[in-house]
Amino acid sequence: MEAKLTHPIFKIISVCATEMNSSAYVIGGWVRDLLLNRPSKDIDIVAIGSGIELAQHVAKKLGDKYQVHVYKNFGTAQILYEDYNIEFVGARKESYRSESRKPIVENGTLEDDQNRRDFTINALAISLNKKDYGHLLDPFNGLKDMEQKLIRTPLDPGVTYSDDPLRMMRAIRFATQLNYIIEAQSLASIAKNKNRIKIISKERISDELNKIILAPVPSIGFKLLFDTGLLQLIFPQMALLQGVEAINGKSHKDNFYHTLEVLDNISKTTNDLWLRWAAILHDIAKPQTKRFETGHGWTFHGHEDKGARMVPQLFAELKLPLNEKMKYVQKLVLLHLRPIVLAKSEITDSAIRRLLFEAGNDIDDLMKLCEADITSKNEYKVQKYLKNFELVRQKLKEVEEKDNIRNWQPPISGEDIMKTFKIPAGREVGTIKSAIREAILDGIIQNDYNQAYQFMIQEGEKLGLKSD
Ligand code: CTP
Repeated sequence: MEAKLTHPIFKIISVCATEMNSSAYVIGGWVRDLLLNRPSKDIDIVAIGSGIELAQHVAKKLGDKYQVHVYKNFGTAQILYEDYNIEFVGARKESYRSESRKPIVENGTLEDDQNRRDFTINALAISLNKKDYGHLLDPFNGLKDMEQKLIRTPLDPGVTYSDDPLRMMRAIRFATQLNYIIEAQSLASIAKNKNRIKIISKERISDELNKIILAPVPSIGFKLLFDTGLLQLIFPQMALLQGVEAINGKSHKDNFYHTLEVLDNISKTTNDLWLRWAAILHDIAKPQTKRFETGHGWTFHGHEDKGARMVPQLFAELKLPLNEKMKYVQKLVLLHLRPIVLAKSEITDSAIRRLLFEAGNDIDDLMKLCEADITSKNEYKVQKYLKNFELVRQKLKEVEEKDNIRNWQPPISGEDIMKTFKIPAGREVGTIKSAIREAILDGIIQNDYNQAYQFMIQEGEKLGLKSD
């Protein structure tokens, strides 16, 4: 098969390789994505001989503007051309030792280089050489696997996965992104080699996990992670959600599969990684808070609060960022039941103001999470809940237009309180400040400076403070 290489850079690389009496090929992910119609900006070039020298020659041909970044330790070189990232490397043969994922590397042929790759669909190469320019080299029938939607390793899967255990995560990630099946022997080999994942850094594992989470239907990946036993090793708290217990014939739902439904639901409405993480973690504390109450059935009291408190530790363990993204996830986990409670009862303005105040600008995301959390099989119930949420949304809009609570700063600051009563910073200032906030949220006074000022004077007097 011939592949169409429309970009002029490939001809330039081809000419340079010929001038150097070398051979060059485009290989790996870029070729896969070309055939899958998923244009990519990362181009990998393999040279027979020195990749660095080929890169230097190409850069010279392109003109002074382009620099080669050489990574001597890896034997690679990079050119940033337009918005493309082109990496050059010499064809290599790799052999692995059991205790490390760092291989012993030697120069090799194109075949050696294709042999060391993870999957048949990632081992495809296109020739850039004069005699067969554009010819697809597909030694492991990667093209056929693409047609059959199969993830398969070029060599014995035991060797491929044991050599570099990150590939177990990559197999599941590609299966999820592309909606492919992992070939049976390969899947069995992942289950067998799962403990090798321990030699992979947490950062790399989370990178792959995040790619699974950002796929169109992330549950595909999580089910594979669970079924192979990898999830239990890399993210045990999530695996613990799986299972159903029954007492006196009463059972609760399986929280793992429920969480996956919520995740798939929210993935239809957002591509935001952190909102998807909030869906993954919303019920994370259910195993720890589970109780059976006679006459009542299964309860998970306080799971939202405990779950929110688990978030920093989980993020630290998974090497996810400990910044405002973490706080955002924590907030959504903490608040995820609030709109449901609202929808079930009479919706008062003050309850709405409180929710707006606590959720701030994340209120729309919180509503999305709550809607995704409806996973009943009973269509009547689903419609009823959605309708209730519509009412909550409506009410949120009305109260927000009236009271402007979302980005609200109380009209009286701590400074104002200290100046008025001539007192230093301390507990009294905090007491008065929160009394004002509560009064506004409860609708006792309006969100306005004069009313808040009068209220502050009264509260100060209660504490025995005098103003001028
Ligand atoms: N590769 C491999 N084993 C790995 C990582 C990469 O064999 N653990 C090979 C594959 O041939 C892959 C190529 O190196 O196609 C480039 O890897 P990388 O850039 O990490 O991934 P891509 O396959 O390009 O996919 P993506 O860009 O989606 O990460």
